[in-house]
Amino acid sequence: MTSTMHTLLILAVCILGTVQSLYQSCKEIYAYDPSSASGTYQIMNRKQEPFTVYCDFYTDYGYTYIANTTSVHIDIDDLYTSKEHVMVRKLHVNGEQKETRMEQISKYKAQFPLSLQYNANVGYAMPYNHNQMGPYLYLGFLPVRIAQNRNQQGYRANGVDYLFTNCDSNPNSYMAFYFNHNRNVPINYAGCCDTTLMHDWITHATAVPKSRYLPPEFYLFFEMHMGGCGGYAIPPTIIHDVQGAALGLRFDYDSPCAPSPCQNGGSCYPNDGHTFICECPEGFVGASCQNSV
Ligand SMILES: *[C@@H]1O[C@H](CO)[C@@H](O)[C@H](O)[C@H]1NC(C)=O
Repeated sequence: MTSTMHTLLILAVCILGTVQSLYQSCKEIYAYDPSSASGTYQIMNRKQEPFTVYCDFYTDYGYTYIANTTSVHIDIDDLYTSKEHVMVRKLHVNGEQKETRMEQISKYKAQFPLSLQYNANVGYAMPYNHNQMGPYLYLGFLPVRIAQNRNQQGYRANGVDYLFTNCDSNPNSYMAFYFNHNRNVPINYAGCCDTTLMHDWITHATAVPKSRYLPPEFYLFFEMHMGGCGGYAIPPTIIHDVQGAALGLRFDYDSPCAPSPCQNGGSCYPNDGHTFICECPEGFVGASCQNSV
């Protein structure tokens, strides 16, 4: 083999290797191979720039967590299929990991799904440490136009609404998760505003089995801000026993067999995650068993 041929071959292998191994989401990884194990994967954004995620797979659904090393733009809308809830993980100082299913409060559930944004908060209050610690992942509960009223607000954690009444029209209703690549210290919010509401989602969290622990690089510095008298919290000054939190974006996998494509009593089998194969009963043929013989 000439050295030119050799180089070309290596080049071809490298290009193929890159193209084949990078998907744009955990959902795609699962669709390609539903037996994929939960773990750390490289995926790419729409500009084909790679970044690291943890895909936490369950049967037909899962959560995507983004690593603290990520410095490329994240097309966050590609990473979830539902804004009905997110899973927020916490890494405690003693090494334990716990999680809380976070949702919009019942009263606004139908009107306002959660807001998920990457380094933006369009329609929602600006996170306090965005200059110091951004870029950030944004989890918005109520948009400014609703939160600026002196109404009842809050969040829902593991199936329970935790509420407060906004006392001064301040429209904060969010959590922000900071990549903080420069390791800056948070700005001082005047030692304000430790309330029970800032701890309820932690107090009522669920233990995560050790086999599902995330590696520590998926935990980010975070800030929770509610109101107008709901509270403000960061670790460790207000949330003492938590080192970091991770935002789990929910995706649901719709099997190609979900729309029941096989007719005339045919049985459907997913094929490579994207297409289906129908096994037809006697007397029927066709990709969907649509023809009688
Ligand atoms: C990312 O996480 C790892 C593991 O906790 C930590 O050692 C590293 O300092 C973190 N990087 C940043 C930029 O925070």
